[in-house]
Amino acid sequence: MPKFHTLNVKEVRKETNDTVSVAFDVPNDLKADYQFIQGQYLTLKAMINGEEVRRSYSICSSPMDEELRVAIKKVEEGRFSTFANEVLKADDKLEVMTPMGRFYTEVHSEQSKKYVAFAAGSGITPIISIMKTVLETESESEFILFYGNQKTDTIIFKEAIDGLKNTNMQRLSVYHILSREAIGSSLFEGRIDKERCEKFCNLFLDVESVDEFFMCGPESMIFDVKDTLETLGVDKKKIHFELFTTSATPAPQKPKKKKAISNEDLSDITVILDSHSYQFQLGEDGENLLDAALKEGADLPFACKGGVCCTCRAKITEGTVDMTVNYALEPWEVEQGFVLACQAHPTSKKVVMSFDET
Ligand code: FES
Repeated sequence: MPKFHTLNVKEVRKETNDTVSVAFDVPNDLKADYQFIQGQYLTLKAMINGEEVRRSYSICSSPMDEELRVAIKKVEEGRFSTFANEVLKADDKLEVMTPMGRFYTEVHSEQSKKYVAFAAGSGITPIISIMKTVLETESESEFILFYGNQKTDTIIFKEAIDGLKNTNMQRLSVYHILSREAIGSSLFEGRIDKERCEKFCNLFLDVESVDEFFMCGPESMIFDVKDTLETLGVDKKKIHFELFTTSATPAPQKPKKKKAISNEDLSDITVILDSHSYQFQLGEDGENLLDAALKEGADLPFACKGGVCCTCRAKITEGTVDMTVNYALEPWEVEQGFVLACQAHPTSKKVVMSFDET
């Protein structure tokens, strides 16, 4: 079960004008809890202007760095990101949830694979963690990165990427794409969209020989690249993407009328967490199971409340629910009854949802 602990901020480092990376001190007795896999994220919690705010940020370090560090890009009207960029400093304390996320494939020293990543802006954060880990662990593997930014000076981790390139000349290729700076080549000027992605695939890749594709950035880029790859015949199992929790995350909507429960016909809900059960009734008021259970005092894990981060993953062990959106669960998980509690609405008279099933 994911759990919050109070960690000391070891360093806040300015990476670009509007991005900091934040490293944490992890005490020895919590080292095992904060062991992470490349590509995972942390959910941070702070009181900002008297209000609790939680946000998830990808880890940018590699498990081999022996450092727990996330990158936080300031977004317009982003309460947490503004706080992190303008107020947070070394030796402050933050509530940090144990690492979560499945944006990775297993690395093994004997593997020889081809990896391709498409990142835009702060989408580089989990990608650089994956890239460092692959290059350090798999001496025979190759990595190609397509990285979109507005201008050269907004490229996050530019030095680190250049450093990786210098030490892995034969195995790492990096292509920068800039949307607001002329670089003398129309191919690399603009955004990573369907057309450009197709051109990159034709010019720089033997798509069939690629073992894993990773994408992280704005939703439009992710779906453009995903669609292009699928059109080119790439097996869906090789395509991995991570959507970020942003203010653009769609707000939960009411469930569809025809499947909703009427007010006279309230559902009996049981939520199980750490072997404790919480019971309440829920009707057709559009409230999701997560919010309803939080009101009942269940300290459930959550971050984005937008169906993106997967922090609120639980299993329906009895009854049925509808999910408004699902950007996080794999088809096999949905088949096995896993749901995103923040998106789940009851569609049967009785529903049992457990956070203890993994
Ligand atoms: S809290 Fe992020 S998917 Fe539910």
